[in-house]
Amino acid sequence: MQPSIIRDALLAPDADPLFAEARALRDRVFGREVFQRGVVEFSNHCRKNCHYCGLRAANTELQRFRLDAEAILDAARTAVELGMGTVVLQSGEEETADIRSIGDLIGRIKRLGDISVTLSLGDHSEDAYRYWRDCGADRYLLKMETFNPELHARLRPGQNVAERLARVETLCRLGYETGSGIITGLPDMTPEILAEDLRLLSGLPLDMIAVGPFIPHPQTPLKDAAAGRIDEALRATALLRLMNPTANIPATSALDALDAHGREKGLNAGANVIMPSVTPEPVRAGYNIYPGKNAAPEPVRQIVGRLQQRLRDAGYEPSSSRGASPAKNARQAGNT
Ligand code: 5AD
Ligand code: SF4
Repeated sequence: MQPSIIRDALLAPDADPLFAEARALRDRVFGREVFQRGVVEFSNHCRKNCHYCGLRAANTELQRFRLDAEAILDAARTAVELGMGTVVLQSGEEETADIRSIGDLIGRIKRLGDISVTLSLGDHSEDAYRYWRDCGADRYLLKMETFNPELHARLRPGQNVAERLARVETLCRLGYETGSGIITGLPDMTPEILAEDLRLLSGLPLDMIAVGPFIPHPQTPLKDAAAGRIDEALRATALLRLMNPTANIPATSALDALDAHGREKGLNAGANVIMPSVTPEPVRAGYNIYPGKNAAPEPVRQIVGRLQQRLRDAGYEPSSSRGASPAKNARQAGNT
């Protein structure tokens, strides 16, 4: 898709035809089954200082936590019992990530059942990525956030597009089902920048692509910036579906922070995955990337059960399949 066509679709007066087309394509490829990924947010320690994120190192008001191995395993077990076919291990970028113990955890989680394990642990060495893959990790999620070099460097101090992209390519080369994504509505992100981000994302050999709207966090430098618009995030979701028919595309949690039915709207714009947090009380509220994230003071089973009911009410069926991306299979078939 040409950047100008993407831009026009982002700005068109009526987005309903776009949503309908994306939904119909999702129905043809995935039906109404929604893959479920249970996210275990096991540590909110982070060495980085991304301007948009509440976990940034400079946020001294945040109470930091790290779950021990048994607590992580309990949360993973809860995810499996709740019907998730994938467990995602996610954390801030820890200063002293223990490569070996994360590897041990991957093996123990894989033995819980017929499930996939996704890692979302940020930037690490190629050796670490290879080791975790050899321990059984199936997927890795590393978001570009934006491909715009100037915006990326400004909002992600000390980081740049080229290095991040090289890491995403390393993950693909190592054989991970690789996911990436962007934040829509970042301050100074024009429709042209967003259109270019969507085009570049769609040019990568990704199995999973995520877009979520920016939500300002009070303990960050962007506290006074305007939030992203949900409509724009939904249009971006629909455009990604049209450009990536077989990719796994989540209805991101950030949509729910802007609208009580945000995730249903994401599915109705062509998404086919949900990624509920299964991080246990009382620490889950401490994984406060943006306001509203993990805010409900309730047990995990209740929160997830309600979300699953919401999906059924909206005409979808929560699936317990591992939900591997047909994109990878299609690529492999093309290579032989
Ligand atoms: N609003 C929306 N998404 C955010 N993320 C981080 N901060 C925010 C925010 N303020 C997303 C980024 C990151 C993931 C941990 O959460 O995409 O990769
Ligand atoms: Fe750390 Fe990720 Fe937040 Fe950046 S976005 S501050 S790397 S947790």
